[in-house]
Amino acid sequence: MLGKLSTAVFLGLVAFLWPQISLLLETQKLSAITPDKLTKVNAFKEHEVKFRDLLKNCEDVILVEEQQVALLSCDTGRDNWNTVMGTFRDPSGAGVLYQWFYTDPDAVPSPIALEHPTNGSYFTTDFHPLGIEYHAPSGTLFVTNHAAHGPTLEILSFKPWSGFGRAVAKHVRTIRDPSIWTPNSLIPLSATSILLTNDHFFKIRFNRPLARTETQLALPGGNVVHVSLPPADAPADAPANVTTLARGIPFCNGIALLNSSTVAVASTTRRSVSLYELVPPPAGSPAWTPPSLSFRTESHAPAFLDNISTDQNGRLLVAGHPSVGALSATVAQRITCNELRAKQASGANLDEAEHATEKECDEEEKHVKAATWAAELSFKEDGSPMWRELLVGNDIYGSSATVARDAKAGLTFVSGLYERGLFVGKE
Ligand SMILES: *[C@@H]1O[C@H](CO)[C@@H](O)[C@H](O)[C@H]1NC(C)=O
Ligand SMILES: *[C@@H]1O[C@H](CO)[C@@H](O)[C@H](O)[C@H]1NC(C)=O
Ligand SMILES: *[C@@H]1O[C@H](CO)[C@@H](O)[C@H](O)[C@H]1NC(C)=O
Ligand SMILES: *[C@@H]1O[C@H](CO)[C@@H](O)[C@H](O)[C@H]1NC(C)=O
Repeated sequence: MLGKLSTAVFLGLVAFLWPQISLLLETQKLSAITPDKLTKVNAFKEHEVKFRDLLKNCEDVILVEEQQVALLSCDTGRDNWNTVMGTFRDPSGAGVLYQWFYTDPDAVPSPIALEHPTNGSYFTTDFHPLGIEYHAPSGTLFVTNHAAHGPTLEILSFKPWSGFGRAVAKHVRTIRDPSIWTPNSLIPLSATSILLTNDHFFKIRFNRPLARTETQLALPGGNVVHVSLPPADAPADAPANVTTLARGIPFCNGIALLNSSTVAVASTTRRSVSLYELVPPPAGSPAWTPPSLSFRTESHAPAFLDNISTDQNGRLLVAGHPSVGALSATVAQRITCNELRAKQASGANLDEAEHATEKECDEEEKHVKAATWAAELSFKEDGSPMWRELLVGNDIYGSSATVARDAKAGLTFVSGLYERGLFVGKE
């Protein structure tokens, strides 16, 4: 009797947990795929990897289509400091934000000078921009910064500038809040209202085994929060209000507005994009009242999804990592390489094995192991998802983090987390 009961309990438990178990089995399979086993895709008529010597480790590319300018968030220091992947060698580097007028054939990405409103340069050290977003009507630039002293949301005032002299972004305020915990991506709904993702519950910096477990078992530790910012003319230290809108999202990564009433959120470890209905606060409520999100559908993909964006035609563009093993290998190798370079720089001699490893470092940086997965997601009339792969593999461009498209100009851009340059494809 007891035997039968426990068998029944066991079978019941397996049935109950089956979705999670099959997800993890599938994850196991994907983790084992090496880049050479991927079916390569390149859907572009023409392509080019531009600015290989200038750009490195760019996580984010956002387009301000009206001005045909791309804003890039790049951090060469990511090899030494990555609070998402868990690299904590040296935080002193400072990432750089670039602007690039992409339809001007002579234009090159130029760094945006970051300045204190009255006191010259700002963010010259320990600046690790990850997600950036731009709210054009108010000229507000939002940056999630993974600094050593804790994660912050930085608000800057900025207008793309193609004239003589430098482009300057002036610091407006820094938001630190316990609910901005592991910030990743964000989207502005207005100049003072933002949706932001926290990717994990456990911070890998303080709790490596638990954060790893959270990632590996796809535990639902991420969330989407709403940040209500003080108006631009409020004192610099005015606090923000942060409200959680959706919780229980495993490795909650990219976020994008599909249209005025739908938000798309990527879960890396569930390898999916979920759509939520964005319900505005009731009419007549105060400006700082948060909207609400209600879950609609989830669409799975054959890669660990990173960032998402929307083009002018309402297509979702999704970047991901199809071969986790290769991504981890790249991360690990960058740490080894930087340790060897630091050793060399300090005047110590490398032994033969170390010399050989160092040679491989240069090779790896020229041809990144981590593979790219860039695709477009659209929905049929009945709401069912349609994926179209745009670029898959590591032979052209590796470690895709964000895809963005200017549909009118027919240009698609892919940025690479551990890659040099920016992929530009013409359809
Ligand atoms: C301006 O910069 C100087 C030197 O870097 C610093 O000592 C001072 O505190 C700064 N003032 C403000 C208002 O940040
Ligand atoms: C991802 O892309 C979106 C939209 O382009 C942007 O708002 C967000 O900040 C990006 N996040 C990261 C982490 O790259
Ligand atoms: C935060 O919420 C309080 C009410 O709880 C409101 O008075 C205040 O204006 C809000 N501040 C912001 C920046 O949203
Ligand atoms: C937004 O997109 C969703 C999902 O495709 C769709 O169901 C909805 O009707 C769209 N809403 C608007 C206002 O276009």
